[in-house]
Amino acid sequence: MPTPDIKLYTDEEDLRFRLLRQLDAAPGASQRVTASALGVSLGRLNALLRATADAGLITVSDRPGPDKRQRFAYTITTRGASEKLRLTDQFLARKRAEYDALHAELTGTASGNSPLKHRTHPMQNNLAPIPELYVSYESAQKLKVEAADLISWDLTPRQICDLELLMNGGFNPLKGFLSEADYEGVVENMRLADGTLWSMPINLDVSEDFAASLEVGQDIALRDQEGVILATMTVTDNWVPNKAREAEKVFGADDDAHPAVNYLHNTAGKVYLGGPVTGIQQPVHYDFRARRDTPNELRAYFRKLSWRKVVAFQTRNPLHRAHQELTFRAAKEAQANLLIHPIVGMTKPGDVDHFTRVRCYEAVLDKYPASTTTMSLLNLAMRMAGPREAVWHGLIRANHGCTHFIVGRDHAGPGKNSAGEDFYGPYDAQDLYRENQSEIGCEMVDFKHMVYVQERAQYEPNDEIADRDNVTILNISGTELRRRLAEGLEIPEWFSFPEVVKELRRTKPPRSQQGFTVFFTGFSGSGKSTIANALMVKLMEMGGRPVTLLDGDLVRKNLSSELGFSKEHRDLNIRRIGYVASEITKNGGIAICAPIAPYATTRRAVREDIESFGAFVEVHVATSIEECERRDRKGLYKLAREGKIKEFTGISDPYDVPVNPELSVETENVDVDNCAHQVLLKLESMGLITA
Ligand code: PPS
Repeated sequence: MPTPDIKLYTDEEDLRFRLLRQLDAAPGASQRVTASALGVSLGRLNALLRATADAGLITVSDRPGPDKRQRFAYTITTRGASEKLRLTDQFLARKRAEYDALHAELTGTASGNSPLKHRTHPMQNNLAPIPELYVSYESAQKLKVEAADLISWDLTPRQICDLELLMNGGFNPLKGFLSEADYEGVVENMRLADGTLWSMPINLDVSEDFAASLEVGQDIALRDQEGVILATMTVTDNWVPNKAREAEKVFGADDDAHPAVNYLHNTAGKVYLGGPVTGIQQPVHYDFRARRDTPNELRAYFRKLSWRKVVAFQTRNPLHRAHQELTFRAAKEAQANLLIHPIVGMTKPGDVDHFTRVRCYEAVLDKYPASTTTMSLLNLAMRMAGPREAVWHGLIRANHGCTHFIVGRDHAGPGKNSAGEDFYGPYDAQDLYRENQSEIGCEMVDFKHMVYVQERAQYEPNDEIADRDNVTILNISGTELRRRLAEGLEIPEWFSFPEVVKELRRTKPPRSQQGFTVFFTGFSGSGKSTIANALMVKLMEMGGRPVTLLDGDLVRKNLSSELGFSKEHRDLNIRRIGYVASEITKNGGIAICAPIAPYATTRRAVREDIESFGAFVEVHVATSIEECERRDRKGLYKLAREGKIKEFTGISDPYDVPVNPELSVETENVDVDNCAHQVLLKLESMGLITA
């Protein structure tokens, strides 16, 4: 964290800061009380109030009532709240400098004497409070009322995560969503416009229509998905970013196989807004409340327990024995206490859900000595940006009061790119972290790849086993673990804790008992519906799980009766089908979908929604357009050729042929029964049905 230049914090600014702080904390206090709290005369206070109101930092209104000394009420404005936040940084820096000077004085370290026996400890940066963007409860109530008149933006789930960490100081020194200059600096060279290290763009992405309705300088209300106001923001910047460049620079490639690049192009809005944020309230969480801590809550906890060194372990996966061993070792190496700091915001699509993971973590926590280790949940939306993400994670952990951070092999790796290669080298994250470590303010403890040595019945770092030719080294990869869970196979005790395995099995029973979705895609008249119907009947004959058919025509009669065939409407139609199928899958049923679904990005989005709950089996019904037109069962191709039906898939509208479907079926010269049977064989080979 850069230390603000305290010489720039003038006495006048100090007085303005204390006035804003006083009005924020006690907006209803009389002038006399306010003057005495600031230690100034009433005359000086009046002049100060006038200047502050003229600068737009407070509003003055008449206060009804008989007491003449309390004729006016003062309310801090959004702008005043940002100014207060700006001055808070300077105020804290000055206080810290004063404290350190006092410490030096008391211990004799300033005068060249040999230090006295320590009567105070220097205030450690990681334990001192850090600025938050919240106003006081009283001001928040007033701002909420004022904000009713503001234009509102309903935040996306990712933006809610970002906003929470902006407001509670987790993203300190950011004071809001990035301005264009800060964004450019971060994208280009990981630095804000003032040169401070920051590796991840934190933007408020919105639609073009919403952006067009705003003017620079305007305040907007930021609301959660239920409409609860969480913050206000003064829009200082409004621009259309170069997303391809952002993808290249931040994520290393403009390749949609990267989850964050996919999000950038296919989910994020086209326009970015930047500006300071005034926090009104934290996003509401109903789950695991006692396990969620703000940076200042963690700092206070570490202060209270005198944890002067804390090593954080970041994770988005359940913890097994190897993790426990490596975190133990990291703590020992750094001579530090241990913070297990799992992500419960957004992780990689397809990860184990955070409810299950937290139950697993709680089970493992018992295996750590309570006096050395604690766990706290972090509501971060990960980007899976490897090296840049590691730097970002370190900055966030420093803000949470940690002094050390474990960075592993392929930290926050997104998997393979569209050419089947890793996006980043396995140690790129460690290298970038090391280069920037002094500015991150959180020392790296590099991850040891732990493996089990059977003869010694213990975990050891893989690169430190001298007698590796004479011992049996065991390891189970993530993929192998998923396979064993999916197929209901044994997971040995040396690998994980029985409590963790039990939790995982509870959420993820063997595949043959899980819900799944079969998603047919292909041209109109390709035979999707016919095969889907045959498949449904065969699955019902087998029994065991409820089966629902979401056929294209049927959906359009019911669920999507008001939609046409524009790209926007087709996407909406498929997203609706995907939503229903994901609910069916989540609840252990079988969903069979049979729309045209012409767009690859939309199919992928549906896949991601469903794969958090069960398998997604994409079946391309690969009947050629010529054959479909020849069959023309509904007479639609003829009408399309005559121009009587517009935007007809394959004739006057595009169809993205699936690149990697689980199965592709030919229908020419093959009967329906056989096609349905091919699908059954595929389901069987995936373990979704038993022979
Ligand atoms: S989409 O693109 O997935 O939303 O389409 P879908 O809902 O599956 O379409 C269902 C049926 O609508 C008929 N139809 C058209 N198809 C394509 N393009 C245009 N313009 C169009 N207009 C009507 C067509 O018969 C689709 O039926 P299927 O079951 O695919 O033959």
